[in-house]
Amino acid sequence: MIAANRLNTVEEYYFSKKLREVRGLMAEGRPIINMGIGSPDLEPSIDVQNAVKEALRHDGAHQYQSYQGLPELREAFSSFYKNKFGVTVNPQNEVLPLMGSKEGIMHISLAFLNPGDEVLIPNPGYPTYTSVTNLVGAVPRYYDLTDKNGWFPDLEELKGQDLSKVKIMWTSYPHMPTGATANREQLTDLVAFSKENDILLVNDNPYSFVLNQSPISILEIEGAMDVALELNSLSKTFNMAGWRVGMVLGNSEHINAVLKVKSNMDSGMFYGIQKGAIAALNSSESWFNELNAVYHERRELMYTLADKLQCTYDKDSVGMFVWAKLPKGASSSEKFIDEVLYDKNIFITPGTIFGSNGEGYIRFSLCVTADKIKEAINRF
Ligand SMILES: Cc1ncc(COP(=O)(O)O)c(C=O)c1O
Repeated sequence: MIAANRLNTVEEYYFSKKLREVRGLMAEGRPIINMGIGSPDLEPSIDVQNAVKEALRHDGAHQYQSYQGLPELREAFSSFYKNKFGVTVNPQNEVLPLMGSKEGIMHISLAFLNPGDEVLIPNPGYPTYTSVTNLVGAVPRYYDLTDKNGWFPDLEELKGQDLSKVKIMWTSYPHMPTGATANREQLTDLVAFSKENDILLVNDNPYSFVLNQSPISILEIEGAMDVALELNSLSKTFNMAGWRVGMVLGNSEHINAVLKVKSNMDSGMFYGIQKGAIAALNSSESWFNELNAVYHERRELMYTLADKLQCTYDKDSVGMFVWAKLPKGASSSEKFIDEVLYDKNIFITPGTIFGSNGEGYIRFSLCVTADKIKEAINRF
């Protein structure tokens, strides 16, 4: 059977291919240290683990769940946003649980894009924005992010272009892969730009609570609820990547459109996972402090490793990666990481998988123990 044409618009995910190669090298007995992917190796809190265990015996725990999630879960999302960002969302209709923010990218795109609509996508940025845009028959339109502009779009330059077909703009601050942050003024400009051009602004915000002194949500900006949605996730903040819990927040009309898609695609989130998520969202300040202490130690070590590779980096960046610039004279990101992989058995992500502006950069994940990072340093 011939697969649908839309499959010609996407390729197998880089990590899926490269990790197969890395696994092959491991099977040959090579002592590979994987600094590629941002999948937290630490455990969720004991409270979270106990919550899911206890939930298994609750009445109805194994039945289909509401498409909108338990009211208690939506309350917990809403309180989390209130406590962390000072943002008020109505738990009834302004927040929706997702099975990870990645699925939200597809749902939002299905809810708002018609074939031929254009989508503003950051270069570099999370590759899923592009693949989903292509899968729904819309057209990716990249905006440049560079070191020079602080990895923030040149809105004046964009305003000079014909934006009449643009329906969605993806942003992710704190930015993945660079770890750049956007301040309140910049986010205010983004909201104004989206309003002026009738664009749905979607900020993908899963890294706010990793090594970040000043978390900020797009929904804090006045008027943002009119034009913006925000995605958030428990994957990185609570070490729950495999649980698949995310959320989308915004005004009720936008959320309803997403719900219309979602309710036709899944049959609710497992009850136990919802209970665990509620426990996570209610974590005390010490959770965040302890998590950040671990990542802080790892990041300091990763800087030393980057130094060994003669790479440079911005110590003001946040999140669970170190985004590093290759030394002058290095040929290309992919060649560079392949050399390190084959010579030193260390896998690092080439910046190019996030777009052409990632050329000349590599990304180290902090989801690696301090001992492994020390071992990697010793290999040089
Ligand atoms: C920018 C960005 N958005 C979304 C995701 C997806 O996260 P999840 O689906 O686990 O919530 C990731 C994961 O790496 C990411 O880096």
